[in-house]
Amino acid sequence: MSVHTHSKTEQFIELEERYNAHNYHPLPVVLERGSGVLVWDIEGKQYYDCLSAYSAVNQGHCHPRIIKALTDQAQKITLTSRAFHNNLLGEYAEFITAYFGYDKVLPMNTGVEGGETALKLCRKWAYEVKGIAKDKAKILFAENNFWGRTLAAVSSSTDPTSYTNFGPFMPGFEVIPYNDIEALKQALKDPNVAGFMAEPIQGEAGVVVPDEGYLKQVSELCKAHNVLFIADEVQTGIARTGKLLACDHEGVKPDILILGKALSGGVLPVSAVLCSSEIMDTLHPGEHGSTFGGNPLACAVAMEALKVVKDENLAENAQQMGEIFRAGLKAIPNSHITEVRGKGLLNAVVIEPYGEGKTAYNICLALLKNGLLAKQTHDHIIRFAPPLTINEMQVKACIQIIEKTILEEIGA
Ligand SMILES: Cc1ncc(COP(=O)(O)O)c(C=O)c1O
Repeated sequence: MSVHTHSKTEQFIELEERYNAHNYHPLPVVLERGSGVLVWDIEGKQYYDCLSAYSAVNQGHCHPRIIKALTDQAQKITLTSRAFHNNLLGEYAEFITAYFGYDKVLPMNTGVEGGETALKLCRKWAYEVKGIAKDKAKILFAENNFWGRTLAAVSSSTDPTSYTNFGPFMPGFEVIPYNDIEALKQALKDPNVAGFMAEPIQGEAGVVVPDEGYLKQVSELCKAHNVLFIADEVQTGIARTGKLLACDHEGVKPDILILGKALSGGVLPVSAVLCSSEIMDTLHPGEHGSTFGGNPLACAVAMEALKVVKDENLAENAQQMGEIFRAGLKAIPNSHITEVRGKGLLNAVVIEPYGEGKTAYNICLALLKNGLLAKQTHDHIIRFAPPLTINEMQVKACIQIIEKTILEEIGA
């Protein structure tokens, strides 16, 4: 056995690769502990976490209040199923609907289930309220969208990695260019359009921020055509972009709002779909559900995670620290950095190819070596999205590491 010559890290990675599906390509680091904006690997090395588990850990790793809510509730009851009522679901539903300003909520677990739920609601509403003929409803999506990897999600995807060899695909979906009001106007001419689902900032596409006014126009156009605007705020929501929701930057209230990730502070999968009673009340017993959706453990955790966001002013902090973060990234003197973009603490740098076959992945490897975790999206974009609890000193420390790494890896 050659294991004895391998580092602890290599041994853990080999074990995972041997028995686990190869559906990801992680950076070669094995994490075992986290606190706030910091994480530690199994060798004891410390890192700044600039991914926050794709914005699930907005409140910081192992936030003491969220962990207490988790452990307190875990000792009472964790799961009842929806065959019975539990003593927290009503309280949670009242809390989250008031928090985001909607009539009703439908609790699910993962973000992609939130997306599926929103689309089912949209179709149901289209047939029973809007009056579209049976099976004719159409839902529009934006090019380069990402909302998960279920069959419905990949049916709306324009990324060949997501959809190749997974057909046949869901009918009734149409993709239009993102940030293109004319394209939306054109598509809305079809009276069978029931909804338009989009991210207010496209996260996985590489933190693509639409032009100012786009969301407002989308919302107005949808309203004028009696079409539901479905905002996928799974990644952008819950203070990430410097407001509670990214749609708040333009004063837009989506007809259907999808949340996930940071709804639990990264403690367990909790997602939610919020909308008016007119839309939600089209659903009746048996037509949708999930064994775990609305479980008391999730309810307790989500309420505490949302309270932390307000009590610690995380939206304001994301706004302020985001300004400093972007200014720091923009000040890095390097001709290969072609763009720095983002809002709040959801930011990205675009780095032109450098050296032979070198991509943003190589820079992420070098960042790892220097104590900062970040992940490339596509070949040339690196997203920087630290927990929203980050302070100015920590932002500056991150910028220092990024600058030093780029200098070492690419040169000036
Ligand atoms: C915008 C958006 N929607 C939905 C999802 C899917 O969430 P989950 O992975 O929890 O299913 C993601 C995941 O990255 C996302 O970024």
